[in-house]
Parts: sequence; structure tokens; C-alpha cells
Amino acid sequence: MSTVIKGGLVIDQTGERTADVVVDDGRIVAVGTDLSGDEILDASGCVVAPGFVDLHAHLRQPGAEEAETIETGSWAAIRGGFSAVVAMPNTNPPIDCAAVVQEVLALGAKAPCDVYTSGAITVERKGAQLAPMAEMAELGVRLFTDDGNGVQEAGLMRRAMEYAAGLGVILAQHCEVDSLAAGGHMHEGEWSSRLGIPGVPAEAEELMVMRDIALSRFTGAPVHFQHLSTRGSIAMVRAARQAGVAVTAEAATHHFTLTDEDCASYDPVFKVNPPLRPADDRDAVREGLADGAVDAIATDHAPHTMDAKERPFDQAPPGMLGLETALALALTELNLPVAEVVGLLSWRPAAIAGLKGVHGGPIVPDAPANLCVFDPQETWTVDPHDTASRSRNNPYAERTVRGRVRHTIVGGQTVLVDQVMRP
Ligand code: DOR
Repeated sequence: MSTVIKGGLVIDQTGERTADVVVDDGRIVAVGTDLSGDEILDASGCVVAPGFVDLHAHLRQPGAEEAETIETGSWAAIRGGFSAVVAMPNTNPPIDCAAVVQEVLALGAKAPCDVYTSGAITVERKGAQLAPMAEMAELGVRLFTDDGNGVQEAGLMRRAMEYAAGLGVILAQHCEVDSLAAGGHMHEGEWSSRLGIPGVPAEAEELMVMRDIALSRFTGAPVHFQHLSTRGSIAMVRAARQAGVAVTAEAATHHFTLTDEDCASYDPVFKVNPPLRPADDRDAVREGLADGAVDAIATDHAPHTMDAKERPFDQAPPGMLGLETALALALTELNLPVAEVVGLLSWRPAAIAGLKGVHGGPIVPDAPANLCVFDPQETWTVDPHDTASRSRNNPYAERTVRGRVRHTIVGGQTVLVDQVMRP
């Protein structure tokens, strides 16, 4: 059965044009005017874009299925317009060997979006011994990270880079020096002083960014910086790229939409790691996304149970949901042309994840049909209870945003129609 997406503005890496798009048997078969198909998806007033790619999603399986499963997280992704997600390895057991990778990929194969997984850089993410990256790479793992933790030991990180370069995979770093971050629960600055909450200084992130730029230059191995949150980090990455060092970077949605002042409510929904920073850092993240210093928007979707997030601020776990709100927040807050927002969510992360040709477009005949259709003008109010996620830790409750996903197509299957999931 063929599907025609009618009357939308098609945006991909090659430009923009008004066109119908016909999908059949998993592929795009025609792009043009006055096309027909068995099923019609209305896209008038909408953008037809490559399905989005999230480089950073905590799907919690195996081990914390009470907060999220690969299936529920994938539905949250679908509602956010994502056709592919990269799962983070801080599960229980951690994704640090072929057996766990296989388990995650098997569960992912039944999910509505394409689920890729990262693998840990070190055994159990403990930072002491390199994980068997080769056996995970053989199963298709492209991105390795100890996310949740940074790799503390410079010598070990150097070895990991040399190993990764030989395998043709990318290391992604959660930049945080533990000895500076220990005991902190929010950004260290004026608001942490006022609130009496111990802080994590910007330098905890920046020192590791600095170190890994040096190690990338030294080894020639590419490094991807995860969820950069400070002006200093972004300035260093910008300069390193200009100097030809093989670094890339992502920014999480919350770091360009929220600030440390939001923690003044003492509501742990605003607790996240790296922490929300002052407005000047938030503005630097926006500038980095606008000028190309930062390649991609990632969600850092981090579901936690109500029970966990209702503990006092210093006892609650860090993390917030992000998959269902990323597009709207980017369109509402970034003040960028729609095509640039689409690039930050699709072809640029797709390139980092090694998914070019599968996700991220271009929208042309014979390409795999991974697409999302969104209305860039629709305004809506975020309701934490209206979610496909198993968790509710959404920091944007009651916020009115602009831009809403209408339809999502993955591998030719229409899995979301007018925001309604189609299992
Ligand atoms: O806020 C965070 N939550 N930061 C992390 O690094 C881990 C994540 C999680 O797994 O909840």
C-alpha cells in the first residue's frame, strides 16, 4: 500500500520545495506535484523533513523498566518526529559488551523507531579498564561513551581514542571532572549560593573539553562532545574545529531553554547533569547552534519515576524528558530558519551517528522512507501527562510552544498520524 504526503514544504539538505512525496514498500518512490497514493497524509501548511535523529536518549532498558522501556521511549521519539535514536549505555547491566548490545538491538528491532545503541568506553562505565569495543563495533555500534560519567583518566582516554580510531568508531564524552563536580547538585554560582545547594562549577566540564581536544589533536581520533553547557566549552570547540581538530558537539534542548534560576523552586524536575547554567551560558549554546560550533540538538531524554523525582533536590536523580518537546522548543527558542532547525535535528546528527543514507535525508526517490511532517506554526501547551513516555519528569509543564509534529514515517510505515500513535 502506498502513502502520499500531500502539499507540504519539503525541506532537506539540498533545499526546499513544495511537493508531494510518495512512499511505497519502505522507500520514497516519487517526489513531485499532483501525485497520488492509497493513503493520503495531509501536509498542507506543514514541513516534510527527514525523520529526526537523537544522538542521546536514555531508554533505561535493561534494568530500569519502571522509568522507561525501549518500546515506550521509542514511542516518545515517534511523537517528537524522531525516526532514529541512539540509546545511552548507563543501564543495568550497562551496555558494555556484545551480549547486552544484542539484547538492546533485539528489543529495538520491535520498536516503532530505529533504535541504535552506544556502547560503553570502559567496563561497567567505571573508568578503569577499556570495554571490548571491537566486539560491539562488529554488531554495528558506532558511538562509544560512558555517559552519565566522563572518562577521568587521561591515559585511559588516550588509549580509548587510539583503539576507537583503529575501529573507525567515534568516542562521545560526557565532560565532567569528578573531583570538581563531587557533591554538587546544580550549577555553582549566584543561585547555588542563594539556595544553599552545593554546586558544580563550569570548570568541571571545561577542563575535560580542553583535555579531550588536546587528546584528539594528539591521536587524530574524532571526539564528540555531549550536552555542552558552558560558554567556555563552546568557545573551545569552535576554536578547535577552526584549527582542524576532529571534534563535534551536541547541545541538549534544556541547555538553550532553561537556566539555573529555574532551580529556585527547589523542584528536582530542574535537576540535570550537566546542570542548568546562567543565562549567559544558555545564550552561548544558542550562538553555538546558530554558527555551527555545535553540530546537533540532542534530547538527553532521561526518564525517572515520580517516586525518584519527588525526593528532595539533593537526593533526586538528575535528568529530564526531552524527546517529545525538542522540535517545538528549538523552533520557539532558537530564532533560526526552519531549515536550520531541521538540519540540527536530522542530517547533522545522522552524519555523526554514521547513519547517512538511512536517516537524515535527502528526500529523493529510492531513499529509505524515514520522514517526519510537522506544522511549524501550531502552538500548543505542554502537558506532562500527555506523553508516550513511562515517566513524567517534564520541566516544561504549562509552557506554550510553537511547532508540532503531525505525522512520522519509519521505514515506510506510518506510525504517527495527526499525533495519534499507530501501533
Ligand atoms: O541528567 C542526567 N541524567 N545526566 C546524565 O548524565 C545521566 C542522565 C540519566 O541517566 O538520568
